[in-house]
Amino acid sequence: MIKISPSVLASDFSVLGAEAARMEASGADYLHLDVMDGRFVPNITFGAPVIKSIRNKTKLIFDVHLMIDEPLKYIEDFKNAGADIITFHVESSSPAAETVEKIVACGCKAGVSIKPKTAAEEVFPLLDKLSMVLVMTVEPGFGGQSFMPETMQKIKTLRREIERRGLSVDIQVDGGINEKTVETAAAAGANVFVAGSAVFGAADASKAIADLRSLAEKAY
Ligand code: DX5
Ligand code: ZN
Repeated sequence: MIKISPSVLASDFSVLGAEAARMEASGADYLHLDVMDGRFVPNITFGAPVIKSIRNKTKLIFDVHLMIDEPLKYIEDFKNAGADIITFHVESSSPAAETVEKIVACGCKAGVSIKPKTAAEEVFPLLDKLSMVLVMTVEPGFGGQSFMPETMQKIKTLRREIERRGLSVDIQVDGGINEKTVETAAAAGANVFVAGSAVFGAADASKAIADLRSLAEKAY
C-alpha cells in the first residue's frame, strides 16, 4: 500500500506540534522525523525529547529515521518518546541484527536504511525481521537535495528478493521525492515516500500529498 510520510525537516520548527497536526489534516499517513547527531551525518537536528513533545499533537504514525552513529544505545528513548517505526542505518556502528531485535522487542516496527553507495544485499540477512527498508535517494544529512536515479536498481533488487521470500516488507525512499521523481521510484518498487520540501514547500499541502499519492499509485 502506498504511504506518504512528510519529513518535518522542511517544517517550521517553532510550531512543530501544529505542523504535525497540519500534516494529519492534510492526509499524510506517517510523520517522518529525521534525527541527526552531527557524527553519522554532518548535521544536527533533534532527539527523543523533541519527538516526545509533539506526540500528543497528532495520531499520525511516527516514522523515526535515525541518522546517528550508535542507534542501539537510544532505541528505548525513541520508543518512549512515541516512535512507531524506528529506522537506523546499516552503516552505523551498532550491530545491525541486535539493533533490529531491540526495536522489535520494544514493540516498534523495525526499518533499516542504506545510503546511496551501500549495496542492497547488505540488508538481505535482516530482511525477515524488518517491516521496512529505506533506500536513501540522496546522501543523508540535508533536505532539498536532488534525487539520485542510480539508486533505483537497488529498489528493484530488494523488491525482487522480498517477493521471492514471500515477505511483506515496505520499501521507503527518502530524498528529492517530488511530483517529477515519485513515479520513477514507485515503478522501481518503492511504496513509502518521504517528502520534505515537496510537501512543506507547497502552497497547499493536502494537494501536494494527494498528487504524490495518485502518481505513485498509478506507477507502482
Ligand atoms: C535527508 C533526510 C530527508 C529529508 C528529505 O537526510 O533523511 O528525510 O528531509 O528532504 P527532501 O524531501 O526535501 O529531499
Ligand atoms: Zn529521512
